[in-house]
Amino acid sequence: MNLKIALSPMAGVNDKIFRELCISMGADIAFTEMISVNGLTSNNFKSFEMIPKSGKRQVVQLFGREPELFLKSAEIVRSKNGSNWIDINAGCPVKKVVKRGYGSALMEDPRRIRSIVELLSKNGFKVSIKIRLGREKNKNYLEVAKAASDGGAFLVSIHGRTVEQGYNGKANWESAKVLKEALPGVKIGISGDIFTYFDAYHAINQTKADFLLIARGAIGNPWIFKVVREYFKSQKVIHVDLSERKRVFNLHLDKTIKEYGIHGIILFRKFVVAYLKGLPNSHEVKLKALKKSNVEELKRVVNGFFDKLISCEQGGVERGNIKG
Ligand SMILES: Cc1cc2nc3c(=O)[nH]c(=O)nc-3n(C[C@H](O)[C@H](O)[C@H](O)COP(=O)(O)O)c2cc1C
Repeated sequence: MNLKIALSPMAGVNDKIFRELCISMGADIAFTEMISVNGLTSNNFKSFEMIPKSGKRQVVQLFGREPELFLKSAEIVRSKNGSNWIDINAGCPVKKVVKRGYGSALMEDPRRIRSIVELLSKNGFKVSIKIRLGREKNKNYLEVAKAASDGGAFLVSIHGRTVEQGYNGKANWESAKVLKEALPGVKIGISGDIFTYFDAYHAINQTKADFLLIARGAIGNPWIFKVVREYFKSQKVIHVDLSERKRVFNLHLDKTIKEYGIHGIILFRKFVVAYLKGLPNSHEVKLKALKKSNVEELKRVVNGFFDKLISCEQGGVERGNIKG
C-alpha cells in the first residue's frame, strides 16, 4: 500500500508510550509533540527528553522561528537518534505560540518558511511541514506549500481549518486535493476529522493524498490504524471488541506508570476518558475513574465496568453507537 498512515503530532498526548502503542497498532509513522527549537538549543532538559530515543518511524516536529535554531535542533535530534526527518510546525493556532511568531504565524511569512526548509534540506535533512488553510482573510496555504516545496520539502500536510477556526467547523479536505494537483512533485498529507475507516476512505478517495494523519481519532482508539489499514487492503471492517479495549487500556496504563511512576496516573486521565468514550452508561465510571490516584483502584473501577459490559454484551455494543 502506498498510502502512509500516521499518528498526527499532538502536544500533551504523543508521548513515547502513545507513539509506540500506535505504531504497534499499525501506524506507519508517529509524530512527536511539537518541540521548541529555543528549548532544544538552550539545553532545556524537558525539550531534550521529548526527542524519541529511536528515530525509526518516530518523527520529531519542531516549532520556532529562526532558521539557524531549526538547523541546530535538527542536528541535536540526528545526533540523539540518527533520524534525519524533521517536521516543521506551521499550523499551531495557540495564542501564546502565535504571539511569538511560531506555529501558524510562520504561514504569514512564506519566505521564512522557504529559508527554514532550504537550510535543513541543504544540510541533509528530509523535511516535511504541517500547515493550516491560513487566516480567514488570507487562506494562503497554496503559497506556503509552494514555498516549502521550493525549499525542498518532500511532504506538506494540511489540516484544513483556518487559524481562527481552531477545531471548530468541518475540516476542508478539498485543500489537500488542491495541493495534490498543484504540486505533483510533493507528497501531500491530509489531516482533520478522520475518526473512522469510513472518513479515511473518503478523505483519500476525494483527495488522493499520500499521507493520512490521524490525531484525536487515535486517542483511546489506537486500533484505528489497524482498522483503516485493513479497510484499504481488503475492504474488510475489523471489529474491536470490549475485551481488546480492556486489554489495551491496561497495557497503556501499565506502560505509562512504568515510565512516569505514579505521576503517570494524572497524565493518563485524558486516555481513561477516551477509552471509555461512547460506551453505554460510562459517564459515572468516568467521573469515578478521574478521582482515583491509586493505580489498582483505577484499574478496579474501569476493569469492573468493562467486565460488566463484556458479560452482558456478547457481541452487541459497538463504540460510537451509544453516547457515553
Ligand atoms: C491535543 C492536541 C494537540 C495538538 N498538537 C499539535 C502539535 O503539537 N503539532 C501539530 O502540528 N498539530 C497539533 N495538533 C493538531 C493535530 O495534529 C491535527 O492536525 C488536528 O487535531 C486535526 O486532526 P484530527 O481531526 O484528526 O484531530 C494537535 C491537536 C490536538 C487535539
